[in-house]
Amino acid sequence: MSRDVLRVADLGAGGLGEVLELAGQTLPPLLERQGVALVFERPSARTRNACEMAVVQLGGHPVTIRAEEVGLDEREQVEDVARTLACYHSLLAARVARHSTLERMARALLTWPRPVPVVNLLSDLEHPTQAIADLLTIRQELGRLAGVRVAYVGDANNVCRSLVDACALSGASVAVASPEGYGLRPADLERAEGLSSEAGLGGQVSCTTRPEEAVEGADVVYTDVWVSMGDEQEAARRRLDLAGYRVDERLLGRAGAGAVFLHCLPAHRGEEVSAEAIEGPRSRVWRQAEQRMHAARALFAYVLGARPAGTVSVAPAARG
Ligand code: CP
Ligand code: NVA
Repeated sequence: MSRDVLRVADLGAGGLGEVLELAGQTLPPLLERQGVALVFERPSARTRNACEMAVVQLGGHPVTIRAEEVGLDEREQVEDVARTLACYHSLLAARVARHSTLERMARALLTWPRPVPVVNLLSDLEHPTQAIADLLTIRQELGRLAGVRVAYVGDANNVCRSLVDACALSGASVAVASPEGYGLRPADLERAEGLSSEAGLGGQVSCTTRPEEAVEGADVVYTDVWVSMGDEQEAARRRLDLAGYRVDERLLGRAGAGAVFLHCLPAHRGEEVSAEAIEGPRSRVWRQAEQRMHAARALFAYVLGARPAGTVSVAPAARG
């Protein structure tokens, strides 16, 4: 069976821990003479480049495909595109407008003669590869994940959902500050709380409409765009509704003394973040961007079956 990762929750606490370990290890050329299909239905700078280089580092050959080339559900139905790509590639990763497109790809490959994992490179629901990079950055900066306090300020979107779930699985706590109508939904909270219980590391999720409350004493302050890809028609209303949720120096001043600022990028200075905050001494956004490549390499290796060095095999020992 394929090891698909469409949501952070698909990894579970154990899987996420293994991916984080793999990110720091030297990996063998697991993809030697093999291809990876990277399908993009939305624009990308970081994800495309990080994933292409990750595939090269694993000895493979990345083929980036703009969705309009294959015409998802226009030239050919999504299931047939997935099966076609599985004829040539060992892994299929995609950035899609609707999360259901990824689910259809994964379902179409369930009965494929060999495992071809499907990986989410951002959907309207989640951005798991970003969340893995976020954890790597937090661990790099703070030296730990369990017990870390993260404040997410703004639209509780795809990036926020994945971050919250990844933190829940790692024992970090997240306070989400959003205006009415832009917060986490009850189902998101319930899922994150379930993941936190599964992990048993004490991570908590809380919601507020007050950015100051979320940021007070936080170790990490995180924000993302107010207008995600696909939300462009609501841009004017979103800018009005989210106007009080900009991360600036004043807000960052309420965070803990050693707090760092993260943003998945692209950033819009003067909207969700001030120029001073993103260029300031607390900002780690470029280290975070670099971690995208290490996260992609580790996740691709994991879905291909790699395990961190030093992991004890649970397979029964071969008889002599
Ligand atoms: N953060 C992120 O996913 O960036 P891109 O949209 O440029 O890939
Ligand atoms: N929330 C943003 C993230 C971009 C990387 C979007 O979906 O457009």
